[in-house]
Amino acid sequence: MDERIVTAKFTVEDAQVESLRPRYLHEYIGQTKVKDNLRVFIDAAKLRQESLDHVLLYGPPGLGKTTLSTIIANELGVQIRTTSGPAIERAGDLAAVLTNLQPGDVLFIDEIHRLSRAVEEVLYPAMEDFALDIMIGKGPSARSVRIELPNFTLIGATTRAGLLSNPLRDRFGIVSHLDFYDRSDLIRIVRRAAVILGAEITEDGASEIAKRSRGTPRVANRLLKRVRDFAQVAGEQVIAHQLASQALGQIQVDSQGLDEVDHRILLAIIQKYEGGPVGVETLAATIGEETDTIEDLYEPYLLQIGFLQRTPRGRVVSRLAYQHLGFPLPNQDV
Ligand SMILES: Nc1ncnc2c1ncn2[C@@H]1O[C@H](COP(=O)(O)OP(=O)(O)OP(=O)(O)O)[C@@H](O)[C@H]1O
Ligand SMILES: [Mg+2]
Repeated sequence: MDERIVTAKFTVEDAQVESLRPRYLHEYIGQTKVKDNLRVFIDAAKLRQESLDHVLLYGPPGLGKTTLSTIIANELGVQIRTTSGPAIERAGDLAAVLTNLQPGDVLFIDEIHRLSRAVEEVLYPAMEDFALDIMIGKGPSARSVRIELPNFTLIGATTRAGLLSNPLRDRFGIVSHLDFYDRSDLIRIVRRAAVILGAEITEDGASEIAKRSRGTPRVANRLLKRVRDFAQVAGEQVIAHQLASQALGQIQVDSQGLDEVDHRILLAIIQKYEGGPVGVETLAATIGEETDTIEDLYEPYLLQIGFLQRTPRGRVVSRLAYQHLGFPLPNQDV
């Protein structure tokens, strides 16, 4: 399985640092626009004593979707029930969850793009009218019974908004896109985490970790923990630039936060496909990874930093990537 240190995917180790998860909006660093808007919508809902409109959060893994949904519930002062698209197998499973909600509660559905159509059908009237339409009986005597539900807020999270069905997407009143974090936000995230973990770090040290964190708080926190290990063993009280840079080099996270898998992707395109374009399926087969994994985990950041470009004919490596990997530029202009 995936054991990359820079994976944006949730790992067992991440579960051990729950203390790093911000609990209220003021602790949530960056994503200013999303935060400012949510602040208004939450305050307005509270003033009207209504449930908050349904919220769709989308963006690459590890950027804070689950964190934000917990924060929304905390700010509203309501409970949060958490489930996920794949966990809700049958319509009855969803009905059971919905009928257990208290007024105003948040229902968080992670990976909401993976709900089955049958389950989605149950969700529509629940989101729109706070009601469940249940079929009782079979054949000619079958009839539909409507059950009232308490008002609630559905928060859906997905890494791929494009995979959501249109009717489902249309039922969210608030749609927020989380983007990769810039360096200054990541520095703040690293410094905040260092305080919580009781590690002393210089601005330069935090900056070096931030630079290699792929715009992703989850990766930043993980790299900080690894660097802290190196500091501990080296008997260093303070994490400074030199130590951070050395430690990250040692665990093979390069100056841009790329690791061996990213290198394999870029090298495959450069060496086997003359820089591209190459279809993502072909690329996946070439390097022995799943297409989904490339699209969800590796590619978003490579696109973000401009190393990779998506064209209708496939993926193309940019000149920035050639330079980064120390390859001479190809003849054609990319
Ligand atoms: N804005 C932020 N400020 C500080 N820390 C953050 C922020 N966003 C996320 N984090 C940290 O990053 C970790 C990962 O965030 P989270 O689990 O919410 O990501 P996610 O978007 O739900 O990922 P996935 O797509 O894998 O479910 C959190 O545990 C938290 O410690
Ligand atoms: Mg999550």
